[in-house]
Amino acid sequence: MKARPICPGIEWMGAIDWDRRLFDELIPLPDGTSYNAYLVRGSEKTALIDTADPEMSQTLLDQLASVETLDILVIQHVEQDHSGSVPLVLEKYPDVLIVSSAKAKPMIADHLGIPEERITVVEDGETLSLGDRTLEFIYAPWVHWPETMLTYLREEKILFTCDLFGSHLATNDLFSSADQPRVCEAAKRYYAEIMMPFAGQIRSHLKKLSNYEIDVICPSHGPIHDDSSFILDAYAHWVNDPPKNLVLIPHTTMHGSTAMMVNHLITALTDRNVHVEMFDMTRADLGSYAIRLVDAATVVFATPTVLVGPHPNIVFASYLTGALRPKLRHAAVIGSFGWAGKAAEKTKELCGAVQAEWFNPVFTKGMPKAETYEALDALADAIAERHRELEASE
Ligand code: FEO
Repeated sequence: MKARPICPGIEWMGAIDWDRRLFDELIPLPDGTSYNAYLVRGSEKTALIDTADPEMSQTLLDQLASVETLDILVIQHVEQDHSGSVPLVLEKYPDVLIVSSAKAKPMIADHLGIPEERITVVEDGETLSLGDRTLEFIYAPWVHWPETMLTYLREEKILFTCDLFGSHLATNDLFSSADQPRVCEAAKRYYAEIMMPFAGQIRSHLKKLSNYEIDVICPSHGPIHDDSSFILDAYAHWVNDPPKNLVLIPHTTMHGSTAMMVNHLITALTDRNVHVEMFDMTRADLGSYAIRLVDAATVVFATPTVLVGPHPNIVFASYLTGALRPKLRHAAVIGSFGWAGKAAEKTKELCGAVQAEWFNPVFTKGMPKAETYEALDALADAIAERHRELEASE
């Protein structure tokens, strides 16, 4: 892919990774991704903002072939999908000024082997002039590492945001306005998988950014947001809206007892007008589960007992749920055991940081019995009541 003009003097660079299907050996990428870099030409100086994944370095170098002089290289985020091509860019432009946040400086040395003395720290709010254009650096820690910063191009009111506001979406649509519903779905998945643990920090960043006039947002994954309000409004909803009348049931079963309990609970919740979504953790897509965690008020883990703890599928689901720090208000564990076990306690422990009200667990020894179903009905009553209270408080 060649460099593509965004407006006179500003170009999209980087690479579209159509075929990548996994990030960090964890996050599914059903729609691929892209690694966006941006070239900004001023009347006196030229800057490159971020680079590309090292697997795609050559694509970026080909795009830079006609750029004789590069004066400034901005490293907004040290994770290698954006910084991994920096060493090769430095080979081509050995005198380029590398700028980063203070926290990024030692991280660049650690992760890329670039000596710290090669890096110039810019402070929060500091500016660099390109002549007729001005870059202002805005510290925005934890989107998605502690060193991250954004770059605001004052004259054009363009905000470069690296991971923040991105989407794992391979497309040759340069702008998100070409297909906002598709980009919204991909951006929500991206938020759920990567940004949701930092919702508190994002709330602060949105407040800080409200002091800026922003026409266009250029993230380093996925299309450019030519209508900035589209993605700013979406993020405001995701981080601020109260959870909805939705129960997620990540579940797995071995000999059918847990499945019988899950089926009963779904019927009981349906009778009480509670929306339910099921995730069979043997084959569920992690991203689909994460997306629904953005909105769900309650999660009910359903697990058989393996040795003395939850099934490994539910170990994964509960640990992931804790790591993503969703807005959940309520949680429960149901399931079965053969002779003894502590699956409920261990599942709750694995959820770590989740600040939820935990209902009493419902477990059966072997097949579910009449009292098991009565306890599941009571659980459904409690969930429905809490959800009604939640809706009434909005
Ligand atoms: Fe796209 Fe945190 O890197």
